[in-house]
Amino acid sequence: MLIKREMALDQDIGLNGALFGGDMMANMDQTAGITASLVSYNRRFVTRKVSELIFHSPVRPGDIMEFYAHVIQTGTTSITVSLKVKVYQPISDKRKDVTSGEFVMVAVDDSLKPEPILWKKEMIDKCNKADEFDD
Ligand SMILES: CC(C)(COP(=O)(O)OP(=O)(O)OC[C@H]1O[C@@H](n2cnc3c(N)ncnc32)[C@H](O)[C@@H]1OP(=O)(O)O)[C@@H](O)C(=O)NCCC(=O)NCCS
Repeated sequence: MLIKREMALDQDIGLNGALFGGDMMANMDQTAGITASLVSYNRRFVTRKVSELIFHSPVRPGDIMEFYAHVIQTGTTSITVSLKVKVYQPISDKRKDVTSGEFVMVAVDDSLKPEPILWKKEMIDKCNKADEFDD
């Protein structure tokens, strides 16, 4: 499911003319948190693990980034979300993979202790339906 879009601005660009990797990671972390919230009734999630983070190609100023998510595992207190970030190219109407990774998010209570996740099953199905994730 497409979770959000962002445009890379001049102020986000590093010395080598491409987006800072750290900014991309922050955006992906936020996307994983939004996804967890969309498919559950829980209020708070924290990031437990990030893996397989791969930067496939650079993001340039003016690029439109699209953040796609699939839910790949549901546990008692955790959810594993696979993320793909693509750059949308309006002229060709095509998308290019720029970054991908897996995020484990844990639902926590007000004291930041793990709590059971109350799933919205229909939202998980909706999230995982075929879309541009696999283009
Ligand atoms: C996330 C946190 C609350 C988990 O607490 P914990 O006492 O380790 O909790 P548990 O061992 O019960 O694990 C909670 C869930 O995470 C899963 N988990 C823990 N470590 C894992 C790992 N290395 N890989 C995958 N899943 C993991 C467990 O399987 C469990 O999921 P389940 O209930 O669906 O089976 C705690 O580690 C924490 O506060 N970490 C810091 C979070 C944070 O600040 N993130 C932002 C970073 S700046």
